[in-house]
Amino acid sequence: MNLPATDRRVLISGASRGLGRTLARAFATNGDRVAVHFGSREEDARATLASLDGEGHVLVGGDLSDPAGAADVAGRAVTALGGIDVLVNNAAVNLPHPLADTSYEDWAALWQQHVSVNLLATANLSHLAARDMIDRGTGGRIVNIGSRGAFRGEPDHPAYGATKAAVHALGQSLAVSLAPYGIAVASVAPGFFETERVAHRLSGDEGAAIRAQSPFGRAGTAEEIAAAVLWLASPVAEWASGTVLDLNGASHLRT
Ligand SMILES: NC(=O)c1ccc[n+]([C@@H]2O[C@H](COP(=O)([O-])OP(=O)(O)OC[C@H]3O[C@@H](n4cnc5c(N)ncnc54)[C@H](OP(=O)(O)O)[C@@H]3O)[C@@H](O)[C@H]2O)c1
Repeated sequence: MNLPATDRRVLISGASRGLGRTLARAFATNGDRVAVHFGSREEDARATLASLDGEGHVLVGGDLSDPAGAADVAGRAVTALGGIDVLVNNAAVNLPHPLADTSYEDWAALWQQHVSVNLLATANLSHLAARDMIDRGTGGRIVNIGSRGAFRGEPDHPAYGATKAAVHALGQSLAVSLAPYGIAVASVAPGFFETERVAHRLSGDEGAAIRAQSPFGRAGTAEEIAAAVLWLASPVAEWASGTVLDLNGASHLRT
């Protein structure tokens, strides 16, 4: 199939800040056109948009936690860009809910929220983007942002770890079912990397312990994660379809 190396239409969920913003910049600098999606942080998303190299980028806001919201976001991205060649499923929530300290009511609500955003929005956007790619017959790429927590455990964030494991499994199933259409699907499984969301943890008391998780003695950077995603979305990465790529500075070695 004829997926180009540049000038692709790229939808990045959750690009108001953090990794999503860094991903938007990486694709724009590569020469692609980006739909910068945001949930609630419109001002931050506008700052992301304003910082992008090149032209033709668009802003697409919307809550992804229900199927209608995901359909609205994908539909507006398709209309504004003329299609989707690359989908990056980056939007996620990660809220603490250690079982021993969490009421049943809160536990059930937080599980629902994690499943809705982390897993179901990923599945729904994947369907919507892949159907656009199939209908146009051009092939494409889907890259999911998973997590090391799927393998290492998340004692204070169990729904986060479980939904990220499900995202990896979803990506592997879709890699098989979408290959006949020239669509490659891969996931990255990052360890701790620095973004606004986790900056307070890195600068606080647990910062040293987090850095010590890696033998490099540091957390990762969003740029390191974005470089891998850009490669997985490239034409030469078709053969990496189905992979779950560890990006954790040797802090957790899977066997
Ligand atoms: N940072 C780390 O150490 C780390 C490690 C492993 C994996 N990850 C993964 O990397 C990705 C980015 O993380 P980050 O640290 O950059 O987090 P972040 O700054 O919190 O970004 C999350 C994004 O998801 C969007 N979002 C959340 N709920 C949404 C909803 N209901 N509807 C629409 N959008 C929603 C947010 O949009 P708004 O802000 O506009 O509402 C935000 O743009 C996530 O998938 C995360 O799980 C992060």
